[in-house]
Amino acid sequence: MVDRQKQAKLDAIAQVITDRAVDIELAKTCLNPVPGEGSANAALMLVGEAPGAREDKLGRPFVGASGKFLATMLTSIGLERKDVFITNIVKFRPPKNRDPNPSEIKACLPILYEQVTIIKPKLVVLLGRHATNVFFPGLKISETHGEVLKRSLHQGTQPVFQQMFLPLYHPAAALYNGSMRKILLQDFGKIPQILAIIK
Ligand code: URA
Repeated sequence: MVDRQKQAKLDAIAQVITDRAVDIELAKTCLNPVPGEGSANAALMLVGEAPGAREDKLGRPFVGASGKFLATMLTSIGLERKDVFITNIVKFRPPKNRDPNPSEIKACLPILYEQVTIIKPKLVVLLGRHATNVFFPGLKISETHGEVLKRSLHQGTQPVFQQMFLPLYHPAAALYNGSMRKILLQDFGKIPQILAIIK
């Protein structure tokens, strides 16, 4: 698929989210839906949990304090936000930043699958325990952060495909914890090599 076709498909999905045409209460209570943004042709996709207050205000993912550190990590490997695709499992802010519940995750997951299916990134970085456990239930992030994992995915009637994932700690965990910051930067530093290996 050429980039323009991919972009048009991503835009169509973003429109569904922006129109709040998802059967989920959060779509009614949020200020602004947050579909995700970045390159339709990204080799790297980053998936967080759900929008926070600032994301909700601006309708953009990772634009608060966690987003600032995410941008720092991207810069550390020579990338910018525009080079990657950034989104969340849940596209609407849960009130008071509570964790999204299983039915909210279930309602939003097909959207994420579609985004992955269109972009076909080499690697999907799962930011934090919640994003990780959506794809790898029960997996302990403390034991598997920074390790590449593979899983088959499929969307509706589309063929099954193999997707590579990299679970990392959530950038928010590093905001007030220097050792966590170091671990995250170290894990993030593995990404260029991982991308170079994946065909
Ligand atoms: N935390 C997330 O998981 N996602 C965002 O977009 C912002 C903070």
